[in-house]
Amino acid sequence: MRDKIILKAPWELEILRRSNRLVAETLQELARRVRPGVTTLELDRFAEAYLRERGARPAFKGYRDYPFTLCTSINEAVVHGFPSARALQEGDILSLDMGAVVDEYYGDAAVTLPVGRISPEAERLLRVTRECLDRAVQAAQPGGRLADISQAVQRHAEANGFSVVRVFVGHGIGKSLHEAPQIPNFLDAGQGRGPVLKPGMVLAIEPMVNAGGPDVKVLEDRWTAVTADGALSAHFEHTVAITEHGPDILTLLNGRGL
Ligand code: MF3
Ligand code: CO
Repeated sequence: MRDKIILKAPWELEILRRSNRLVAETLQELARRVRPGVTTLELDRFAEAYLRERGARPAFKGYRDYPFTLCTSINEAVVHGFPSARALQEGDILSLDMGAVVDEYYGDAAVTLPVGRISPEAERLLRVTRECLDRAVQAAQPGGRLADISQAVQRHAEANGFSVVRVFVGHGIGKSLHEAPQIPNFLDAGQGRGPVLKPGMVLAIEPMVNAGGPDVKVLEDRWTAVTADGALSAHFEHTVAITEHGPDILTLLNGRGL
């Protein structure tokens, strides 16, 4: 990850708007297909075809040899779960994370969805994690600091008895999937308040919240990250442009979230 934060010109923001909107649109199409019996491999194939038909390409496939279009992380899986032939079951929670490249600019977003009816505790985890993202986006104000975003996530997650993952973070995004700055979902003692947020910054903000402790481990496939204690985990992500008027969420569809 480069350490200089690259500010985007208005014409670049227009391209980023298109790539991120396409990610939101694809996720919405996927969400309509999520139900018991469907496999995450079917969702992956759908997503890749959907992108390619629209002149885009998957952002994750081939990135550090990641083999799929989607990350599909079920229940105790935190992020980077491989799509598979295992059918989704009633009561699962499924994180769908997807990136797309349009005219060389990246889009990135994630949402965690219930599969059929889920437990009240799973419902609460999804709601609180989504609220963490909403609060983090609202904290992304010009003239503020990066730590405002981190703090918004951590406060809300911990106030609800959950924990935030430490080993994965959000990121700047543009002509690369991962640019500076890294965006932790927690405050790091000694790291200060971080850089000042400025118009032209484009940030992928992605709270990962665990129902149990914050630790994760990576499975033998070398990608799938699961909670160390086996508790549920949720993940939501928006790509957001900082403007002089405040945060502008690029991964919305017709002004609406997923
Ligand atoms: N949304 C995640 C991220 O921005 C997904 C990356 S998956 C990878 O880091 F395969 F591309 F690494
Ligand atoms: Co991301």
